[in-house]
Amino acid sequence: MSAMITVSENLIFSLTSKNFSYVFRVSAEGLIEHLYYGGPLQNPEHVSIHHQRTQRETSSVFEGHQHLNLSGMPQEFPSFGTSDYRFPALHGRNADGNTIFSLQYKKHKIVKEKPRLKKLPSARGGDSETLVVTLEDTLHKLEVELFYTIYADYGVLVRSAKFKNKSDVEIQLQHAFSSALDLPPAEYEVLHLHGTWAREFNEERIAMPKGRFVIESARGTSSAAHNPFIAVMQKGATEDYGRVYGTTLIYSGNFALSLETGEFEDVRLLAGINPFSFHWRLKPGKKFCTPEALHVYADKGLRSMSHLWHDFIREKISPPKFKNKARPTYLNTWEAAYFDVDETKVLHLANKAVEVGVDMLVLDDGWFEGRRDDTSSLGDWRADKARFPSGIPSLAARVKAKGLKFGIWFEPEMVNPDSQLFKDHPEWVIQVPGRKPSLGRNQLTLDLSRSEVVDYLYGQIDDILSCGDVDYVKWDMNRNMTEVGSGGLSRNRQREVSHRYMLGLYNLLERLTTTYPDVLFENCASGGNRFDLGMLSYMPQGWISDMCDPIGRLDIINGASYLYPLDVTAAYIGPSPNHQNGRKTSIQTRFLAGVFCAARGISLNETDIDAYKDDLVHFMDLAKSTAQDMVGGRFDRLIKNQNEVCWQYTSRDEQTVYIAYFHILSAPNLPFRRARLMGLDPKSDYILVDDGISYRGDALMQNGLPLPYVTTSHVSDEVRYMDKGDFSSHLFTFKKTAS
Ligand code: DGJ
Repeated sequence: MSAMITVSENLIFSLTSKNFSYVFRVSAEGLIEHLYYGGPLQNPEHVSIHHQRTQRETSSVFEGHQHLNLSGMPQEFPSFGTSDYRFPALHGRNADGNTIFSLQYKKHKIVKEKPRLKKLPSARGGDSETLVVTLEDTLHKLEVELFYTIYADYGVLVRSAKFKNKSDVEIQLQHAFSSALDLPPAEYEVLHLHGTWAREFNEERIAMPKGRFVIESARGTSSAAHNPFIAVMQKGATEDYGRVYGTTLIYSGNFALSLETGEFEDVRLLAGINPFSFHWRLKPGKKFCTPEALHVYADKGLRSMSHLWHDFIREKISPPKFKNKARPTYLNTWEAAYFDVDETKVLHLANKAVEVGVDMLVLDDGWFEGRRDDTSSLGDWRADKARFPSGIPSLAARVKAKGLKFGIWFEPEMVNPDSQLFKDHPEWVIQVPGRKPSLGRNQLTLDLSRSEVVDYLYGQIDDILSCGDVDYVKWDMNRNMTEVGSGGLSRNRQREVSHRYMLGLYNLLERLTTTYPDVLFENCASGGNRFDLGMLSYMPQGWISDMCDPIGRLDIINGASYLYPLDVTAAYIGPSPNHQNGRKTSIQTRFLAGVFCAARGISLNETDIDAYKDDLVHFMDLAKSTAQDMVGGRFDRLIKNQNEVCWQYTSRDEQTVYIAYFHILSAPNLPFRRARLMGLDPKSDYILVDDGISYRGDALMQNGLPLPYVTTSHVSDEVRYMDKGDFSSHLFTFKKTAS
């Protein structure tokens, strides 16, 4: 079925796409009433109106309309105070000084070309339709346009809102959510991803609480504390069973995903900018655009939800230039040398990179003027003269002369107080008068709400990239914001700073990625502290976590995969014992934990590279030979329990199926386990490359693949074994044969 938006004579709006219908109407009172969101309907406009207009005890009746109590009515964009007591999508202060807004339907239109947001990243259109419904508070002359985009081939609904002040007095916006979704009463569960540095993307699954449950950020970054993703699920949903509503945002700053079970047990989801840290003064004639919120509906459990996200993110969010492009393998200097980098060492590491067969040398932190540890120099993006006397362009050229690509690290948004930039421009940091700014990693955040700061950063980065020999940029950001304020804005606009910062950052990224379309940008924020679709709109890949111990990383990758396709992630083989948690693991397990990421590499010193050279040659060769398969394919979570993880990755052409299996702690006399594979052609044979044995697709899916056995003793020659001991891993590669 192709994407279709229809509007009936009595103003029922029906949006039907690949795998969902979404229906709302203009009620007799002129309000926008939500009717349905779920599996596709043949006649969506005939959906029953499940809101029963019955006067409830103690309820207020909306503006004198018989039986209409907004606390029990599902709405598309609710405001507060006219008989609805739930958390609203719109809230603010009007010219009279009160907070009561009431939005009525005014008009609508359907457009074929999806409008792009002017200063914010937005999902691309193409084969899509967009419905724009205009609402108005006629008393205060606040107009709100609601945007709904659906696609023929993608099961994602994109929503945003645009506020326009049509009065001649200022209106103050406090809640300006992107989207509101009122779901009918049911037994729901909630899935979300929480964490901290080096422990990002932990999944938590809870029963939908009564009252309000919010995941949010007020740190100036979307943050690792809660990734901007939430799924509301039918109770008991599994990987392949149950209705699931997933939501995320194309935004990298302070966000909120709020769930509220109302008194009549409807569930309200609000998605958008966090109202806690936001207040926008909308002058007469001015507009305010929210970031886009994305919703998916999946009726076959979490696996189908993830596939909807993955396909959409690749096609409509990630920079198209890198779509389905194999990524270079790389050697990153960070865990090889930390700040102790100089020209000689980098060139030696480049030689090692050539020896083990990687494609790219990445010079991480430590290369710029005076940067010998994390106490100084951020902001001064000139090569350190003592350690890099010939400068970055010359180094890049020499690295490239060895047949490698060259990549470099920046942390553009930051400044150390001990830097020339801070001496020259102390006013350029996020700060408030009269308070000493709190430092994070000895650094301050530059005030990207100021256009002169954005211009300065553009110039600094352009100076390096314009040499033409930089193939890759790792864009880092290592602190959250505190004492948020800007000397560039008036007193009464200080609560706009966090959002204006994001607009400045997006502007900088837009300009740089437009000028350097062939440079591969990698998003990083102490790992996954700003891993979101806002950043991934500009950057084809991201450093998902600083946790490079493979066992620590399994949970992180598994959690992230609910939303993100792994071809927007990167991973490397780091040292053992691991520098984050001290665990010792084999090179194989270190490689396999990241095997399904798009970009694979190593970050080891010369001694380790020499010591493990044969293994590294083998795994970098494997990384290169599988690089094309690791973009655009299908990822499935097969097993995830306390002690085992098993993932499947099917190449885009469906000709190769990889199974990675991890066994965490060894134990005697374990059961023989199987993994039931997913999405194979039941009638085709799949040959296991290791031993040439052929398996039928249906048998692999129904009966399963016998997994290798972890034991200290030999059980039988029929059994396939893992390495003995803890933290073992195995990779199967199947090739499909003609059916
Ligand atoms: C944090 C990043 O996550 C690391 O990979 C590394 O680039 C350091 N910053 C450098 O300071």
